[in-house]
Amino acid sequence: MKLKTKLQVSAALALILFVAATNVFVYVVYENDSWSSEVSRVSNQAEATAEQLSAAIEDGSGLDGIIQANLPGNGMVRIINYEEETIHTSTREPRFSEFPPHFTNAQASRTLVTEDDERFVFTYKPLIWENGNVVTLEVSEHLQGMEENMEVLRYILVAASFIVLIPAVLGGWVLGAIILRPINGLISTMKNIQEKGNLKPIKSKRRSRDELQQLIGAFNEMVERLEREFDKQDQFVSDASHELRTPLTVIDGYATMLKRWGKTKPEVLDEAIEAITEEGARMKHLAEQLLLLVKDGEYLQLDPEHFHLDAVLQKAARAMETATQRQIHFQVSQAPTVYADVEKVKQVLYIILDNALKYSDKAIDVSVWQENRAAYVSITDYGAGIPEADQARIFDRFYRINKARSRGDGGTGLGLSIAAKLMEAQGGRIKLDSKVGAYTTFTIEIPIGEGAEMK
Ligand SMILES: Nc1ncnc2c1ncn2[C@@H]1O[C@H](COP(=O)(O)OP(=O)(O)OP(=O)(O)O)[C@@H](O)[C@H]1O
Ligand SMILES: [Mg+2]
Repeated sequence: MKLKTKLQVSAALALILFVAATNVFVYVVYENDSWSSEVSRVSNQAEATAEQLSAAIEDGSGLDGIIQANLPGNGMVRIINYEEETIHTSTREPRFSEFPPHFTNAQASRTLVTEDDERFVFTYKPLIWENGNVVTLEVSEHLQGMEENMEVLRYILVAASFIVLIPAVLGGWVLGAIILRPINGLISTMKNIQEKGNLKPIKSKRRSRDELQQLIGAFNEMVERLEREFDKQDQFVSDASHELRTPLTVIDGYATMLKRWGKTKPEVLDEAIEAITEEGARMKHLAEQLLLLVKDGEYLQLDPEHFHLDAVLQKAARAMETATQRQIHFQVSQAPTVYADVEKVKQVLYIILDNALKYSDKAIDVSVWQENRAAYVSITDYGAGIPEADQARIFDRFYRINKARSRGDGGTGLGLSIAAKLMEAQGGRIKLDSKVGAYTTFTIEIPIGEGAEMK
């Protein structure tokens, strides 16, 4: 069912229920009110008749005249003795004799609605009769006036219900159209985007800040984010293929050279083998890093454990020292235990130590300490430094400050972006402080994690 139809049907149903309930209420209240005024009217008349009859009985004058004078137009006056026999009946409507006589020595009244919706009221008054016995004076009336009134009221209420419903249904229809027009506009814009395949935000001239405008806003935000993500992906793919093309070109060049001169010139052979091996290694490194970056989900699959951060750092530093024959000074002011994924922390340490060794010639300073709920590792080198303009960007994929220089060092520009991602996944971060020509300090912050101090 369309939204518009749903709105219309539910609004109309609600209104029908409401109007019906109101009309039933009005009808019942009016009916009760009519009954009580009719009963008290007939009751008053019975009272008056009883008084006149009592006076006539005392005087010994004729009773018939009084009864005739008090006989309602479409009613009956009856005198009933205690054996429930009728002593006297006066009526112009013979059908009143259908109603059985009823004796009571208390004042009373009752109403009756027949199956044909005829309404009657019966009132009873006790009276001392001529023979000294208590009898019941019954005055009853067929309430044709009330019947007519109730019928007219029914017609009026039913007609009023329809009259109210017509504008309500029409109003619902118009309102639905007004509300849904912008939604339909939205749908056609979305379809258009889908068909033409270009991600474009929806242009809206609407000024209100209603839900619809919020929906458009949310959609536009989503489109912009998707656009950014797609751009990033495009950039990543083109950067990656570019990075792969360079070593492939070198390998291809040397392979051609080998084919031509390899067998006759041994010096060409050596140069080519060295270059091909180097480029092969670079490609392998690049491929591994790309794999790491692409496997986004795996970063979030952390395998945390308790470990001594200083011990892990020391081990990594010693390994690098041995591999590069360089000096790394180690300083531990505190030995924090952290609860984190040790393999991922190690990887980050290797990436930063590798940079420090690669982009400087002097000894490296490493220290570890703890502050509040976090452990810190800082790695400082005294090399070229990182210009302020580049500091924010070196964490981007493939970003290298001096491409020519970095190429010589075999960098792909992926290390820091991987490190930043790994730390982010653990709730930590990497801070950078550097001065060109003086020093570069990378500081890793690792949250201590749950229960780490208890160990
Ligand atoms: N300690 C440092 N001193 C000076 N420059 C640095 C330092 N660390 C990183 N950089 C600069 O930041 C860039 C990005 O570093 P990153 O580690 O991401 O890539 P890379 O070292 O070039 O390649 P790899 O992916 O092999 O690590 C480097 O190319 C370099 O220009
Ligand atoms: Mg690096």
